[in-house]
Amino acid sequence: MDDKIVLTGIRPTGPLHIGHLCGALYNNVSIQNKQDYKHMYGMIADAQGLTDNFDDPDKVRNNVIEVALDMLAVGYDPEKTTVFIQSEIPELTELTFYYMNLVTLARLQRNPTVKNEIGQKEKFANGLPVGFLTYPISQAADITAFKATIVPGGEDQAPMIEQTNEIVHKFNSIYAPVLKPVKIIVPESNLAARLPGTDGNAKMGKSLNNCIYLKDSADTIAAQVKSMFTDPNHLRVEDPGNTKDNPVFIYLSVFAKPEHFAAFMPDYANYEELAAHYERGGLGDVKVKKFLNDVLQETLRPIREKRELLARDPASVMEILRVGTQKARAVATETLSEVKHAMKLDYFD
Ligand code: TRP
Repeated sequence: MDDKIVLTGIRPTGPLHIGHLCGALYNNVSIQNKQDYKHMYGMIADAQGLTDNFDDPDKVRNNVIEVALDMLAVGYDPEKTTVFIQSEIPELTELTFYYMNLVTLARLQRNPTVKNEIGQKEKFANGLPVGFLTYPISQAADITAFKATIVPGGEDQAPMIEQTNEIVHKFNSIYAPVLKPVKIIVPESNLAARLPGTDGNAKMGKSLNNCIYLKDSADTIAAQVKSMFTDPNHLRVEDPGNTKDNPVFIYLSVFAKPEHFAAFMPDYANYEELAAHYERGGLGDVKVKKFLNDVLQETLRPIREKRELLARDPASVMEILRVGTQKARAVATETLSEVKHAMKLDYFD
């Protein structure tokens, strides 16, 4: 199907970590490299990032380059993917304003992802900014501006896609069939597992200090692994262990490949054998953590090295973003003009 148009988006509110790697980045790069699409876009969603960080402009500004470095280091290829900065495309904001007529307040308040986020944010306890509540409309603008038909994303993005399609249908039936419906693709492999933090907390988060970042040094990774939470009831080596809520084993199940076993843990052929031994008893945490460290070092070293190389020349990275943004803006401008024409807002054409 070569009429597919793929759009991926990431909020630049912190450097990317291994949760992003298995939740989104590996999947996006593998879609990119299949090249069975008409076009692929990689958006850095700084305007969306500001909807809950409007009081910290430096944070968003600084993370645009950090996230761009992360994206390029994991394999986003500007020859294949148009990488761009959301706020540099004002047409997206204009589309958002027109789509606002097509969405009710009650509908926005029902969006489960937004509801969840609002509940978690202390800064919204005394009042919810309209910008945050309406970000799904802005996301619909992001998607439809490029006539994207595919958005890769986790389950939390499904409500955004659903709302986008409601806007698409309403727009097309009231005005003219300009906008394209879109599908989400949720990554299927075990790489899509939601990684817990190194402390066992269900969520990885910068403020929780329980993440391993793509840019972390070898020493930082080793220290994080060493301090990781395991099974608190696995006191002696011979005790049976629990692998289910044990972040060390969850990480291994996601990242340990047969070649890692061959190189660092040759007594076991694969994850299942290792996990079975731990469950039975007789396998110590120190040994397992040492293996996880080897696996993560092997996985992250090439990414970090490429990132360091790119970071030496920030001007080139900004140039990639400038060129990508220019390309993307031309497409969004075209869609906006079709939208305005359909809405009879084309006085001087
Ligand atoms: N909501 C996405 C996130 O939180 C970011 C995003 C903004 C996005 N606009 C998008 C994703 C459009 C896909 C398509 O990470």
